[in-house]
Amino acid sequence: MDQLSLWGGNPLQGQVAVSGAKNAALPIMAAALAIPGETRLERIPHLRDIVSMQGILEHLGMRVNWSGPHSLAIEHGSQDAFRVDYELMRTIRAGVCVLGPLLARRKQACVSLPGGCNIGHRPIDLHLQGLAALGAEIRIEHGYVWASAGQLRGADIDLTGPRGSSVTGTCNVMTAACLALGRTVLRGAALEPEVVDLGNFLNRAGARIQGLGTSELLIDGVKELQSVEYEIIPDRIEAATWMIAAAATRGSLELLNVQPEHLKFVIELLQRAGVNVSSASNRIAVHCPQELAPVSVVAEPYPGFPTDVQAQWAALMTTVQGQSEVRDRVFPDRFIYAAELMRMGARIEKIPDGIRIQGVE
Ligand code: UD1
Repeated sequence: MDQLSLWGGNPLQGQVAVSGAKNAALPIMAAALAIPGETRLERIPHLRDIVSMQGILEHLGMRVNWSGPHSLAIEHGSQDAFRVDYELMRTIRAGVCVLGPLLARRKQACVSLPGGCNIGHRPIDLHLQGLAALGAEIRIEHGYVWASAGQLRGADIDLTGPRGSSVTGTCNVMTAACLALGRTVLRGAALEPEVVDLGNFLNRAGARIQGLGTSELLIDGVKELQSVEYEIIPDRIEAATWMIAAAATRGSLELLNVQPEHLKFVIELLQRAGVNVSSASNRIAVHCPQELAPVSVVAEPYPGFPTDVQAQWAALMTTVQGQSEVRDRVFPDRFIYAAELMRMGARIEKIPDGIRIQGVE
């Protein structure tokens, strides 16, 4: 898609069903590399990143079939490749999630340094440190990570980085540790629901991970994982985007297939701005009055406000009378969009790690 044309001025109204979580689906698809036999996944969103991950898996010798609009069947083909070139990796940063599973099962990986969206400096040092602690030999040559290992061994690993934990780093190290010999203690693990979903998926496949959703995981290695069927959690970023879009247009939306507990921070913030939000089991209803209050936010790792939603929040705040600030502690440079909002007439100034918005008069 090259262009989207939008005609504004209409409040969003109605019901919308939220898709499966892209950021859970991607590492789970990658983890299928570590599982012999077939992996069947439900509620996979049919998005470009998912198709890119499908391409990477097929390049690595996996057979990936859509058995329904949101169902994937992944199994091993005849060849066990271990190299992923830049051309495949450049469009999808989450391609790096194949590193841990490849290493654990095929004992080697040669993966181009990842590409992905332009949201600032995105190193993978924590991924590599964690895998090295499990016994992998790692070198970086000409833009490629070369990793090899005999039998991985459980270790005591701390994944805390300068900006907190790493989501995909936790995914890589956790998946590799599932097939390591002995126990791994993974400190500074990411708490994001997508990491918990991967952990639940791996446990369903026979892994022994304890402590999911906390910053300390205990992982007892097993010899082999087994075929598994699994349904991906709903996408909290998509749900938050719908809620904020409903608020920005002063509309009313009911979201179906959501997990409100993953959205506590976003719901609380909308309520502070004056939006009526109610939730029940897997639904959220949003009713927005005309007048909202400005509310500042700082994006932080889960359970904080998601960095993937701070741009949407800033757009909402441009429609609200008064001043607010949006900062990002996860990706402090993720404000390229502010220039676009300014071109559309928004009054925004740069502040350290964020922006200050003067909403409409
Ligand atoms: C994932 C999400 C992305 C989200 C981000 C933060 C996927 C596919 N993508 O990205 O949508 O915005 O989490 O919630 O799940 N860092 C290091 N060293 C590393 C790795 C990361 O210093 O080895 C830093 C990053 O620069 C960043 C912070 O840690 O400042 C968090 O990054 P990370 O959690 O790794 O983001 P991703 O997993 O790439």
